[in-house]
Amino acid sequence: MLLRARPGLPVPPPLLLLLGPLGPFLAGPPAGPVQAEVAAELDFSTEPPLHLVSPAFLSVTIDANLATDPRFLTFLGSPKLRTLAKGLSPAYLRFGGTKTDFLIFDPKKEPTFEERSYWQSQVNQDICESGSIPSDVEKSLQLEWPFQEQLLLTEQYQKKFKNSTYSRSSVDMLYTFANCSGLDLIFGINALLRTADLQWNSSNAQLLLDYCSSKSYNISWELGNEPNSFRKKAGIFIDGLQLGKDFIELHKLLGKSAFKTAKLYGPDVGQPRGKTVEMLRSFLKAGGKVIDSVTWHQWLDKLGLSARMGIEVVMRQVLFGAGNYHLVDKNFEPLPDYWLSLLFKKLVGTKVLMASVKSPERSKLRVYLHCTNINHPRYKEGDLTLYALNLYNVTKRLQLPYYLFDKRVDKYLIKPSGPDGLLSKSVQLNGQTLKMVDDQTLPALTEKPLRPGSSLGLPAFSYGFFVIRNAKVAACI
Ligand SMILES: *[C@@H]1O[C@H](CO)[C@@H](O)[C@H](O)[C@H]1NC(C)=O
Ligand SMILES: *[C@@H]1O[C@H](CO)[C@@H](O)[C@H](O)[C@H]1NC(C)=O
Ligand SMILES: *[C@@H]1O[C@H](CO)[C@@H](O)[C@H](O)[C@H]1NC(C)=O
Ligand SMILES: *[C@@H]1O[C@H](CO)[C@@H](O)[C@H](O)[C@H]1NC(C)=O
Repeated sequence: MLLRARPGLPVPPPLLLLLGPLGPFLAGPPAGPVQAEVAAELDFSTEPPLHLVSPAFLSVTIDANLATDPRFLTFLGSPKLRTLAKGLSPAYLRFGGTKTDFLIFDPKKEPTFEERSYWQSQVNQDICESGSIPSDVEKSLQLEWPFQEQLLLTEQYQKKFKNSTYSRSSVDMLYTFANCSGLDLIFGINALLRTADLQWNSSNAQLLLDYCSSKSYNISWELGNEPNSFRKKAGIFIDGLQLGKDFIELHKLLGKSAFKTAKLYGPDVGQPRGKTVEMLRSFLKAGGKVIDSVTWHQWLDKLGLSARMGIEVVMRQVLFGAGNYHLVDKNFEPLPDYWLSLLFKKLVGTKVLMASVKSPERSKLRVYLHCTNINHPRYKEGDLTLYALNLYNVTKRLQLPYYLFDKRVDKYLIKPSGPDGLLSKSVQLNGQTLKMVDDQTLPALTEKPLRPGSSLGLPAFSYGFFVIRNAKVAACI
């Protein structure tokens, strides 16, 4: 999901990158023989005006379908999953997806056995420090997960969604996960609960708001997911005008609750084109004033391009869940996309500059330039982070602009790891396979300093971050 400050309609991005999830891209064929080649020159434009993205630019989703059977929400008690999530903070954790509009809050529903055993394992005062899912419970849930996943995928494929209910404990599970991981929760409220005349029926949302207020939870809100395809999913057509009114109604409820200052995002439409653009337009006219950011979906997922277009936040795919494109597998092992996201988070700052390749090769050599994230202890104001993708099946080299020739550069090169090539589930950073040290500890992401003046080598199908130290770029100070 993409998030952009209102006002203004989102511009449908040009369809040019095959970036999608980065994983499959990384799993390209192994590098061919290295050929001596002229390095492609880079052109940097570091003058204002710059785009600014949110520190939460790269954010993640937990698909609401994880609550279809709320027992599986207990996975969110896994210390390992929390450690991985914490690595990506600051970020939003969006709880959303198609199932958003098929979930009903039932405050009287009892916690499941799995949830109870999780809460009972909390012996310490500090819930973030103590307890985890008892390992037998976690193991048996993991054994059941492939069947659950199949069920969820079937539901999605057939576009036949059943309503499910979730309990107070489910909300606690989700909130605790977000809070203990340092992520800001965005909760998607069911927009398909409707009165006979198709107004949004807010009574269930009211119950949820009451409960979350009683727990002093700090949550941002959405209403509905891809309302442009409600007809396909539920046989109901809601136009932009009605949806705008529904958001105004939710905004009123928030104003009367502890969530007076909470953010409200929407309308979470699918890719804005054709009828969806019309819907978005009439939605913004009717309800635009009550939302804090406009949101929409896309399939193509292009961090670099999104940043250039002034999109504030990209909710990149699913942290954990059913289907493709997650960052973490079913044993909570990080996948290649996770490591890329982590490096992105650590090295890439919020100010967006422009870089381009001065040669006909630019179509398959993608470069993006930001100021460096100075929360990284090694770097300081004025430093630059270049990130680059080589979509060629041979090694390519990049040459920094002349005025940066004498700068020291740290390289962070990501390549598929091991003999599996195409199917590799792990990656190497500068030749070292990345893996967690233990459930509480992420590995150090160690740079490889380059000699000043060297060109930046990118093997076939690799992704590299290059931090140009002491660049003293005024726009980054
Ligand atoms: C790279 O791709 C080209 C054309 O797509 C092909 O002819 C060539 O054999 C490939 N080289 C390697 C090293 O895979
Ligand atoms: C809204 O939903 C609640 C709970 O299902 C129901 O009791 C109530 O009658 C509905 N209100 C309207 C106006 O349909
Ligand atoms: C969220 O986490 C912070 C620090 O980790 C803690 O101080 C705060 O009480 C938590 N908030 C809730 C509502 O649990
Ligand atoms: C709630 O979270 C937002 C986002 O992190 C933060 O800006 C705000 O200060 C928090 N509000 C409270 C009352 O803690």
